[in-house]
Amino acid sequence: MATPRIIHLAQTISASVAKIQDVLTAQGLQTPSFDEDASHYLPLEVLEAQNAVLDATSELNDLLMEPMSMIHCLGGVVDALEKWPGSEEPSETGFCLANNTTDSIYAFLGANPTRAARFGNAMVAYSKKPEFSPAYLTDHFDWSSLGAATVVHLGGGTGFYAMELAKKFADLKVVVQDMAFMMGPAEAGVPEELKGRVTFEAHDFFAPQIVNADVVFFRWVLRTWGDKYCIAALKAQLPMLKSGARVVVQDMILPEPGKGPFWKERAARSADMSLTAGFNSRDRTVDDWKTLFTAADEGFVLKSVAEPKGSALGILEFVWESKK
Ligand SMILES: C[S@@+](CC[C@H](N)C(=O)[O-])C[C@H]1O[C@@H](n2cnc3c(N)ncnc32)[C@H](O)[C@@H]1O
Repeated sequence: MATPRIIHLAQTISASVAKIQDVLTAQGLQTPSFDEDASHYLPLEVLEAQNAVLDATSELNDLLMEPMSMIHCLGGVVDALEKWPGSEEPSETGFCLANNTTDSIYAFLGANPTRAARFGNAMVAYSKKPEFSPAYLTDHFDWSSLGAATVVHLGGGTGFYAMELAKKFADLKVVVQDMAFMMGPAEAGVPEELKGRVTFEAHDFFAPQIVNADVVFFRWVLRTWGDKYCIAALKAQLPMLKSGARVVVQDMILPEPGKGPFWKERAARSADMSLTAGFNSRDRTVDDWKTLFTAADEGFVLKSVAEPKGSALGILEFVWESKK
């Protein structure tokens, strides 16, 4: 008789956990625990074994659960989908129903400075996680080939990633644009050595662009807007784009079904669903990103895609060629 699936999964877990522990022991690292001083992260060398354990534990867990317990609900999203089917409006979401408001999340934050500051701090906290390391941005796009260039960072928040770029590439100037309430201390928070190269401007990216930039950079923000809004934001950049300018997106790239570790795909689809609940937006596959940019303007051509090992986000580079 073939080995039953649950036994096979248990064996995978056991063998892979042993591999992880061997690497930790060899590197003199702590074994995972819930202790106060526990290490927060596992080294990249155990990634494959870690994926195997997480996939197998997740499947084993599901196989041993009773079917009714597998039905999940996500705050207000079903009610919102029934009330506003197919809506891309950020004011018609599960978040709105749950909070009894017609404000979008961003409008809600704009009216609540304390919550806006907390949201900004949460973004900075994410940047401390290895999978959001700024090195994935600085080392996986050829910024140095741009020479002396101006980057406009749309939705750049408190400027953390803008400063990382400016620190590493001395020829770059980065203009951070965001809602004023999201910018934290803005220029007052820029270290002396970067002053003049990292600047801040309050700007809603649906309004026509005002900076003549070589690179327009969106990081982790287009996923919070539905397609029609992303298209409007991209169209708003066109008046200032020179032929050959780039639009660089560092954002979630939704995996195609069945590609890559199962636990990652499950997390990605769950995050995609929470974007619907919060923003009426979604995550996008490489093809979705391409379709979105072409819908904004035929002049956008996808030039490169990077999905660095260990990174939560990918980098897509579009070049814009004027069709006039
Ligand atoms: C999820 S946060 C990411 C912040 C930052 N880009 C990062 O990677 O840490 C999204 C950011 O986009 C900004 N944003 C959203 N809609 C915007 C708009 N219409 N115009 C300008 N900024 C916007 C938000 O204020 C927020 O700072």
